[in-house]
Amino acid sequence: LLNHCYCKKFILGTSRLKSHGRISISTTMQHKNNKQESTHETEIVKRRNQACRSLLIQVFSSKSYNDLHNYCLQFGDISSMHHYHINNQQNYILVEFKDIMSIKDIMSSASFTKGDSTPVKSSILWFRKGQITTSQKNNQKKVSLFVENGCTSPTEKETAKLLYNAKSISGQIIILYEMIKLTDLEARLRFHTAHHLEQYFSKLFENMKVLPFGSSINGFGRKRCDLDLVLHNATSRLVFHSKFMHNSDRHETKEFLGILANTMQYFIPGILSVRRILEARVPIIKFCYNYTQTECDLSATNMTAIYMTELLNLYGEMDWRIRPLVIAIRAWAKSQELTSDVPGQWITNFPITLLVLFFLQQKKILPSLKILKFYSTRDDVRYAENGIDCTFLRDINKLPPDYKYRINQDSLETLLFDFFEYYSTFDFQTYGICIREGVQIRKPSRSALHITNPLETTLNVSKNVSLYELNRIISKLHDAIYVLETTDKFENNSWGIMTLLKVNNDNGHLKKSNTTKGQKKNIEEYLEDSYENSYEISDKFEVSE
Ligand code: GTP
Ligand code: MG
Repeated sequence: LLNHCYCKKFILGTSRLKSHGRISISTTMQHKNNKQESTHETEIVKRRNQACRSLLIQVFSSKSYNDLHNYCLQFGDISSMHHYHINNQQNYILVEFKDIMSIKDIMSSASFTKGDSTPVKSSILWFRKGQITTSQKNNQKKVSLFVENGCTSPTEKETAKLLYNAKSISGQIIILYEMIKLTDLEARLRFHTAHHLEQYFSKLFENMKVLPFGSSINGFGRKRCDLDLVLHNATSRLVFHSKFMHNSDRHETKEFLGILANTMQYFIPGILSVRRILEARVPIIKFCYNYTQTECDLSATNMTAIYMTELLNLYGEMDWRIRPLVIAIRAWAKSQELTSDVPGQWITNFPITLLVLFFLQQKKILPSLKILKFYSTRDDVRYAENGIDCTFLRDINKLPPDYKYRINQDSLETLLFDFFEYYSTFDFQTYGICIREGVQIRKPSRSALHITNPLETTLNVSKNVSLYELNRIISKLHDAIYVLETTDKFENNSWGIMTLLKVNNDNGHLKKSNTTKGQKKNIEEYLEDSYENSYEISDKFEVSE
């Protein structure tokens, strides 16, 4: 085994090392009054803990599984092993140990190769060819392997066929959701990426955490969505004197991120194509994480974004229809070129999500944020670093029955249609959307589209959207209504949301149209993005006892 370093490797020996004292790794997000953790916070703690117990190991091929498994067993019991490859060239196995001590042991058995100028033991390794390990000095019972999701992600052809054969549009929405939502392995890899960065940053700064947020963990993410990361410094009443980081000082934040970007570019393995976007309202470092081929955005302390993620996740949890509907509408927006990977005067996924949530508030399926704030308890009190009040009820079971809003039982198909209809006639010129109030508000700004930031109500999250783009959205909403009213499966080999997403069952290929919008990607590649250009999850080897 070799460790991925920056242009260098370190070698793991095969000897079982003596036990070390138990190391304590704090994975709890700290906040005031942290007597209770929300489900979301518990999930984050679980995922971070999982990442601490996992190693990402590059292997020759999936056939290395048995050998690697026997090798790793020398260091302790294994909980799971997942395999994936990138373009059939780079093969990786994510090994999750039961005990964090195994990681410590396995890392201690490694050595760095010559010429390694920045030796940091991180949890990314190589498994070299060598003598096959046969003996298991471990009592773990014989493993049984199984494969997740029938081996691989569905192909385009299978996707089109599944959608085509669905019994209803509601069925199609559920199929789409199941096919493009993030898998367990992707969630693991996203937390592992954060953990990998954290291991490097912790050599520079004590107690610095790297937390994922955004669609990677709010339940609205699709395969291959970007990975939003934020640096977070746990706080307590006693604070060390420090040189840097008055969080509110933009200049210092920019300087700090600039230095960090250099460190990442030159010293952290797996980080490619570092871009510094330091002049933005929220300065970020963009980079590509090579081991998973994921685009990442790293920002400095931004607890509001973390709490926003928690809020969106909470709304997603409230009713089983929310996530499939949001994902379908995001997919529709992408296929219609209303959103793009390139920033500009068009809408993005976050405000689209708020539009859907607001619509569901009008349908009495979701409560307003005002209600969630009203019923919050002492345990729910949270303030972001800039003093912004991010308090809201985290445990939805504590809502009085009247506010649980289970009365509306509309199907997904009805909700999709009604969404298009609701916004196609919405008076955007006079009114803005506000999920905090749960009702439309008089527009406080001259922006074409006003969607109040639920946690910072003076901000408009769609300030960038031009009138031209808003009109395009409205026009596409009308088109969607027309498609849903007239769709006929026998004519076009495509019906329902297939027509909305421009997916066609002919030969199983997704039909492409000419792109009309300069730099913007052909959005009909939406599903292709999920399969073609991605790393494929080929196998999951789970160890059972
Ligand atoms: P995709 O990455 O497109 O899948 O969706 P996303 O929800 O992750 O959106 P994005 O990566 O653009 O932003 C990540 C998170 O940052 C969002 O979920 C929000 O919590 C927050 N965010 C995004 N845009 C804004 C904005 O305009 N204002 C504020 N305050 N927060 C934003
Ligand atoms: Mg994102």
